[in-house]
Amino acid sequence: MRPTLPELLERIRALRAKAGNARVLLGLVGEPGSGKSTLATSLRHALEADGIPTAIVPMDGFHLANRELQRLGRAGRKGAIDTFDGWGYAALLERLRARADEVVYAPAYERAIEESVGSAIPVPPEVEVILTEGNYLLIPDEPWNRVAALLDEVWFLGLDPEVRRARLLARHVEFGKPPQTAQAWVETVDEANAALIAATSTRADLVVTLD
Ligand SMILES: Nc1ncnc2c1ncn2[C@@H]1O[C@H](COP(=O)(O)OP(=O)(O)O)[C@@H](O)[C@H]1O
Ligand SMILES: [Mg+2]
Repeated sequence: MRPTLPELLERIRALRAKAGNARVLLGLVGEPGSGKSTLATSLRHALEADGIPTAIVPMDGFHLANRELQRLGRAGRKGAIDTFDGWGYAALLERLRARADEVVYAPAYERAIEESVGSAIPVPPEVEVILTEGNYLLIPDEPWNRVAALLDEVWFLGLDPEVRRARLLARHVEFGKPPQTAQAWVETVDEANAALIAATSTRADLVVTLD
């Protein structure tokens, strides 16, 4: 499906109608560089322009710290499923689903320093739509299976693989990797993750093809 932004917003409106007074939690999943963060930002702007308080809670905020990755011997494949705190992510989504009276703080991933920063994203109780985006939202094993169970829908974002890899490469270079290192990283680490993620698309509520 190649829906337009207004069509996607209409689908979120339908989810809100179905949810009644409850919050809507929507997941965006896709291979590295498929456009998850970009689409989440566009959706948030459009929803907020409509007067709907919206927050983005990225799975990327649950990257393990670099020193913990070093300790575990996994620094060379940062971005793989075992380099994230999946249990922490699921627990945070549970708190967001429960919609407590207090501000819930989510961590953000800072690409410039390649570390997560805790409590960077405040989610006040009045937030009505939570967009959460990342690689492993549809993995069927614990703890990741808890994630999809907490979400109203999960959309899988598909993008032409050549375009996706080119954008991913450009992003690595933009954030400081030398071009050859970036190319090797895309071909090994990112592509291995991409294969795992692509296999989960059949579990999505909607497959969105992007350009
Ligand atoms: N429609 C688009 N046209 C051109 N570049 C895009 C488009 N959407 C995303 N990008 C760029 O492609 C890269 C990957 O997109 P991003 O949203 O970061 O993907 P993801 O979060 O899935 O890894 C980013 O550098 C982003 O700016
Ligand atoms: Mg992203």
